[in-house]
Amino acid sequence: MSEKFYITTPIYYPSAQAHIGHGLTTVLADALTRLKKMRGYKTRFLTGMDEHGQKIAKAAQAAGKTPLQHVDDMAVMWQGLWRQLMIDNDDFIRTTEDRHIRGVVKIFQKIYEKGDIYLSRYQGWYCVSCETYFTERQVGEGHCCPDCGKPVEIIEEESYFFKMSTYQERLLRHIETHPDFIQPLSRRNEMVNFIKSGLEDLCVSRTSFDWGIPVPVNGKHVIYVWFDALTNYITALGYGSEDTGLYKEFWPTAVHLMAKDIIRFHAVIWPIILMAAEEPLPRMVFGHGWVLLDSGKMSKSKGNVVDPLVLIEKYGAAAVRYFLLREIPCGQDGYYSEAALVQRINTDLANDYGNLISRTVAMVERYFDGQAPAPGEPEAVDRRLAELAAAVAEEAAGYMEKLDFSNGLAAVFKLIGRANKYIDETEPWTLAKEPARRERLGTVLYYLLEAARIATMLLGPAMPNIPALVWAQTGHEAADCQSWAQLAWGGTRPGQRVKKGPGLFPRIEWQEDETEPADAAGGVDAGAGSEAAGASLPLIDYDTFARLDLRVAEVLACQPIPKADKLLKLDIALGEERRTLVAGVAQHYRPEDMVGRKIVVVANLAPARLRGVESQGMLLAASTDAGRVEVITLPADIPSGAKVR
Ligand code: MSP
Repeated sequence: MSEKFYITTPIYYPSAQAHIGHGLTTVLADALTRLKKMRGYKTRFLTGMDEHGQKIAKAAQAAGKTPLQHVDDMAVMWQGLWRQLMIDNDDFIRTTEDRHIRGVVKIFQKIYEKGDIYLSRYQGWYCVSCETYFTERQVGEGHCCPDCGKPVEIIEEESYFFKMSTYQERLLRHIETHPDFIQPLSRRNEMVNFIKSGLEDLCVSRTSFDWGIPVPVNGKHVIYVWFDALTNYITALGYGSEDTGLYKEFWPTAVHLMAKDIIRFHAVIWPIILMAAEEPLPRMVFGHGWVLLDSGKMSKSKGNVVDPLVLIEKYGAAAVRYFLLREIPCGQDGYYSEAALVQRINTDLANDYGNLISRTVAMVERYFDGQAPAPGEPEAVDRRLAELAAAVAEEAAGYMEKLDFSNGLAAVFKLIGRANKYIDETEPWTLAKEPARRERLGTVLYYLLEAARIATMLLGPAMPNIPALVWAQTGHEAADCQSWAQLAWGGTRPGQRVKKGPGLFPRIEWQEDETEPADAAGGVDAGAGSEAAGASLPLIDYDTFARLDLRVAEVLACQPIPKADKLLKLDIALGEERRTLVAGVAQHYRPEDMVGRKIVVVANLAPARLRGVESQGMLLAASTDAGRVEVITLPADIPSGAKVR
């Protein structure tokens, strides 16, 4: 029987505004589940909604709805979002469901009967937004929540308390003997220090509102929302119901994913609830970092949330998922900006990956009439490509299994980069001119189809809709490209039909001077059908090149353009003629660095207005993937107006 994995996200508060921070946890969980399935494990993936508590009761009141109407509406919205993000959860638990309530009542009662829950009085501070109790020292003189910064309120009421302190040493021992229980390591150390500083008994009931699950032994109280919420991980498996089949099958194989802000609840309170109830502890609690904006952590109250639906509509769910997984380093905070998202789309997805697929497909169509060739005897360069594919699959899986999708995806792009270079090195277009080398050409194209297939399979957990789109062009059968074993070299069948289709990732025209990108112009197809050495554009003949009027110009004056932090305005001399250019180099050159330079410009480019200034031509500069920009500069004694050929 194969090993099992029960993968969970936090259950989200039914806030009206989901953001890409929530998306990160859910996409991570979804990608991990898909990877585990591909590797032959049996999985179950749970997400859901946390629907009780004072905060939700207040939000419903503000919306003029009953709490149940409010959470019903929100559940529709959140489930819609997850579908758009291609989240393939097996279950969606809502804490207002009977199956959940029954389980919570059972576990509370069990712990109460054991004597680990007792009645007393609570007096202290409470943050409604975080639904968390704090001590005097934690809220400080300003009486603000140490987590979210909002004012806390003082509460004094009769409460049931949970004897957390009794379990402190046992929990520490469990953490010591299970090194993977809290991950990554930084979170583990943080939690160990927190526990060692001394656990206090936890208040687990409230009396001042009634939107919650009644305490089984005392109807005046409702169960504290975190006690209620954490239990979702087992009630969703049938704990407390007549049918405990799933519970027996999947507990305790759980991998709980969440951001670092709520790791304390999962790594301390949740395991102690389970210990007290005499149930086994989950396999792992993983706390990833936050998605940050330049303005700090995203939050509704700051008004800086980025709506995933807007991004999905603009760039597609695959690109949004890829960005979150690739850009946020494992376990650490990472930054979101639309410019960074567009950059990932253009460089990784359109240029590197999309071009590999379109060039490969175009060459098989052109040289083999759209039928995958059979490989001949491989040469060293071919064997190296096949070896790299196998090594990359292992490396990528090693990272991704540890939830390090950032490095895992980077590994896949090593294969993609190598395959693109392989095209340049083997020069299929030269082989195509020599009939005697037809078998060699067939081998090269077969190896490219294989590299493309393997890279696509490895990208599948991150971008689940992409493999089918690729197979529609490369002619692979989905059934041949699903399991880990099928990553073995040789899955392409000679003779399979290869047919060019639309570009996978349209390049986004990102105006340097704008905060929003212009619509996509063209696609990765820019390179399709062009198998020229290393180029991503089609071959052109000399006459086409000769239509470009490239000339030397002298920069006479240069100024920044107000409100466009990337643009400079240049006054140039082209021989006797004077012109104005706008160039997106302000982040690389100061205006004074430009004056006096002899630069190369495209002199017959149709004028364009950028931020209200007409640009009568374009300067040439080299730019690297790492973001370096060098304006092409000629020696000072070259006269302005000279032709460049
Ligand atoms: N309802 C509780 C969780 C109960 S679990 C038994 C809760 N819900 S929440 O709606 O506030 O969502 C919290 C989770 O959303 C975080 O743990 C994290 O997984 C995700 N994120 C919220 N903001 C985030 C970022 N800015 N960045 C990354 N993840 C973020 O807390």
